[in-house]
Amino acid sequence: MEKQKLRSQAWFGGKDKDGFIHRSWMRNQGFPGDVFDGRPVIGICNTWSELTPCNAHFRELAQFVKNGVWEAGGFPLEFPVTSMGETNMRPTAMMFRNLVSMDVEESIRANPIDAVVLLCGCDKTTPSLVMGAASCDVPAIVLSGGPMLNGRYRGEQIGSGTVVWQMSEAVKAGKMSQQEFLDAESCMSRSAGHCMTMGTASTMACMVESLGLSLPGNAAIPAVDSRRKVLAHETGRRIVAMAHEDLRISKILKREAFLNAIRANAAVGGSTNAVIHLIAFAGRVGVPLTLDDWDKYGHDVRTILDLQPSGRFLMEDFYYAGGLPAVLSKLADHGQLDGDALTVNGRTIGENVKDAPIWNSEVIRDYEKPLVESGGVAVLRGNLCPDGAVLKPSAASPQLMKHRGRAVVFESIEHYRERIDDPDLAIDETSVMVLKYCGPRGYPGMPEVGNMGLPAKLLARGITDMVRISDARMSGTAYGTVVLHVSPEAALGGPLALVREGDWIELDVEARRLHLEVDSAELERRRAEWIAPDPAFKSGYQSLYVKHVLQADKGADFDFLLGCRGHAVPRESH
Ligand code: FES
Repeated sequence: MEKQKLRSQAWFGGKDKDGFIHRSWMRNQGFPGDVFDGRPVIGICNTWSELTPCNAHFRELAQFVKNGVWEAGGFPLEFPVTSMGETNMRPTAMMFRNLVSMDVEESIRANPIDAVVLLCGCDKTTPSLVMGAASCDVPAIVLSGGPMLNGRYRGEQIGSGTVVWQMSEAVKAGKMSQQEFLDAESCMSRSAGHCMTMGTASTMACMVESLGLSLPGNAAIPAVDSRRKVLAHETGRRIVAMAHEDLRISKILKREAFLNAIRANAAVGGSTNAVIHLIAFAGRVGVPLTLDDWDKYGHDVRTILDLQPSGRFLMEDFYYAGGLPAVLSKLADHGQLDGDALTVNGRTIGENVKDAPIWNSEVIRDYEKPLVESGGVAVLRGNLCPDGAVLKPSAASPQLMKHRGRAVVFESIEHYRERIDDPDLAIDETSVMVLKYCGPRGYPGMPEVGNMGLPAKLLARGITDMVRISDARMSGTAYGTVVLHVSPEAALGGPLALVREGDWIELDVEARRLHLEVDSAELERRRAEWIAPDPAFKSGYQSLYVKHVLQADKGADFDFLLGCRGHAVPRESH
């Protein structure tokens, strides 16, 4: 194979003053002189942080990647980027996804890096790193941190996030004491790793594997399993070869890879957040991908993974049952995987997953006995969401998939919190809860509040689900008949802003319809009265965010970040 000219040599290869400077300062870390001899420099992009508990084991993991890089003849250099811990960051980690993607992109381009390993874990750390690397278009491979061990509480398995929604509603309904609730804290999160339900972190780990951006098996190996360290070592070895082969991310992220990921998301019952993130990935590499592709390519795929929140089991069980290769193999057997899509190991995805075994058919079900017949994401249209909205059928209640009810309107999340447990609130199980101003610009950052908790008085009566509609997102660990990502959002003057208490709303998931039963003349009258909210932020990053963020159906990226800018340093290209 012809040897690639590596970009790091523009820093380290010279015998002049600049070469001296670039090498000399690096040598204060104890690197011998021959590491600058033209071997690939591998950046290890680390999102380690003690404020991101899901990624807190990444320094150790990075060491195993380095072992593999050294062994394969590369020169590993670890660098930090901003880390986003889903549970701690306010107003919402999503507001920082695009910012971190800029951190990643500029860190790679500005430095002598030939190829990069992306250490991803907690929800937004995966999309932000992939987006940044995609805009640089260097060879890149994802290593996920892996899920936590299954939660255990009083002999039962409990799943990250999902059990929090269930138990907090049980407390509200008087079925669980506060002390029992608090006792579950340490039982849920009992090892290193990210959420072990099919939340956004696990979903995005499945997405990168089905896109071909990680080695096979990456998605499900538990964080503390020694085989995660083996995979880290192998990832380190492989990225060195990718640098030599110039196997850049744009060669992997083709439209067929995205369609495979859409189908994989349906098969595993993945999070609705994947819709936004994958559209954003596609925008960075110039691949056409629309909201409607999600419905078109995902709707006839069966959900065969029985994992919480859609099903019963957890990520540890998924790994022991065969992991994602087993699911992808099933899809391939049923003509729902483009086996020719290239992956980071240089083989096609079809070759990677061929005959992958299933060790537990309760966890990974037969295609003939699925958890949900028609999985995927339903994309709704109608006068309430001209640019679309999404709903996850596998997490919804069958009896509410066709429903007509009167709107109970919350003008903000604070308004919802004030009103929801007011005993005088006129609401029953047939009502449709509507939440406004929680979209990308409105909140800002599009928080995961779309699965509004039900009123205590209905929970006490045993009501467990209602139709809820908003321009917000929902945690991948959550569930319910929840319409999300309504576009355009209320803050942009979308029809959602015009809904009033008592309006009739019709949801028909099979017909993909979301309709506000208010005639257009009345809607126009309301629009004339509507006053756009004053942006809460007039300066700083928040104001940049609000000015430039795209709507959910376009991936909520910044308008100025779309596209691939390559890895040439701007001054060098002049
Ligand atoms: Fe980090 Fe769920 S909070 S993955």
